[in-house]
Amino acid sequence: MATVGLVSRPVSVLPKISRAACSPAVLSAVPATVQHRKLHHALIPKGKGGRSSSSGVAATVFGATGFLGRYVVNRLGRVGSQVVVPHRCDQYDVMYLRPMGDLGQIIFMEWDARNKDSIKRALEHSNVVINLVGREWETRNYHFEDVFVTIPQQIAKATREAGITKFIHMSHLNADIRSPSKYLRNKAVGETAVRDEFPDAIILKPSEMYGREDRFFNYYANMRWFGNAIPLLSLGKKTVKQPVHVVDVAKAIINAIKDPDANGKTYALVGPNRYLLHDLVEYIYAVAHRPFVPYPLPRPLYHLAAQIFAMSPFEPWVTPDKIDRFHTTDMKYPGLPGLEDLGIVPSTVEQKAIEILRRHRRFRYLEAELDETKPAKTVSH
Ligand SMILES: NC(=O)c1ccc[n+]([C@@H]2O[C@H](COP(=O)([O-])OP(=O)(O)OC[C@H]3O[C@@H](n4cnc5c(N)ncnc54)[C@H](OP(=O)(O)O)[C@@H]3O)[C@@H](O)[C@H]2O)c1
Repeated sequence: MATVGLVSRPVSVLPKISRAACSPAVLSAVPATVQHRKLHHALIPKGKGGRSSSSGVAATVFGATGFLGRYVVNRLGRVGSQVVVPHRCDQYDVMYLRPMGDLGQIIFMEWDARNKDSIKRALEHSNVVINLVGREWETRNYHFEDVFVTIPQQIAKATREAGITKFIHMSHLNADIRSPSKYLRNKAVGETAVRDEFPDAIILKPSEMYGREDRFFNYYANMRWFGNAIPLLSLGKKTVKQPVHVVDVAKAIINAIKDPDANGKTYALVGPNRYLLHDLVEYIYAVAHRPFVPYPLPRPLYHLAAQIFAMSPFEPWVTPDKIDRFHTTDMKYPGLPGLEDLGIVPSTVEQKAIEILRRHRRFRYLEAELDETKPAKTVSH
């Protein structure tokens, strides 16, 4: 039974097994208590690689209902993977994910992050687990410690106990225990907790991601509602950002699943260029054909204003933590592998920003050519 289970797993998602390890003598020595994972025949790769074929991947994507989640489910579905989407909302709210895979390949399942059995149930039939759970603000029910440390740790533990060998955890480029942002401090603790629980986890550290539904470019572009005046700490001239396109991160996840050598590695996922925050926001306004009026706001005053927004029972417009996070210079990790090591050529902001910012333009500029907009200045520090 153990032999059947192992052989039926696709090579791409399995660690290489030596011939010697498969000899009858070795197999007969395997203790009877070893957990046998039942894998469905649908997990044998077949077909031409389209959505109706089978990629051999059955992935549980925790946090699939978020910004990055939809791109990951889409990329998995289009190559013929089975995707389990644990969700905590009404099933009809996540129906937009259903057409992303072939009939019956996107499976919805209710889960409760505090219920260990529901985590186990969600990954029971998978050979890949991806954790995208995250939140930009704390709620009464879930603090950053819960979302970035306890939940990932529980998922990592359940994944290990289920005998799954591929676990991908999403951290943040600037995760640092000394960061002024509580979000980033907890991301750093979460990384360590996941590594301790699942040493072979693939940890991805993207910088701020931008894409149609992002809370980065859209956040700055929407500031025009406040009279076009953009508050920036030190006018954004002391912060360097290296944003990454969300599709590149989703592709990185898929390629990390396919790459058996990715296990146990940490990847820093960044875009190709670094910009001063000031220049980046200026470019956002230039593409949106809106006047850019930045003004320097001292941190305590900006925090005070953000605290008022943070009291919102709904998604807060901004929080003091978000201000600290956005004004943190993106770290450089020359020693860590990146997008290129996963076979991805990162897209530039100039190539993709228009997809996000066109809807922020006035009607008369809707079709204006992008060539008229000067590219943002890049920096090398
Ligand atoms: N966005 C960025 O620029 C960026 C940059 C670097 C790293 N990251 C990290 O990448 C990951 C994905 O980011 P994202 O922007 O896609 O996040 P997101 O849009 O905020 O989505 C987060 C997902 O986590 C789920 N979630 C949050 N709290 C939960 C809880 N207590 N119980 C169960 N589910 C919970 C949400 O479910 P509901 O829909 O039910 O709320 C949602 O599916 C996160 O870990 C984030 O920290 C993001």
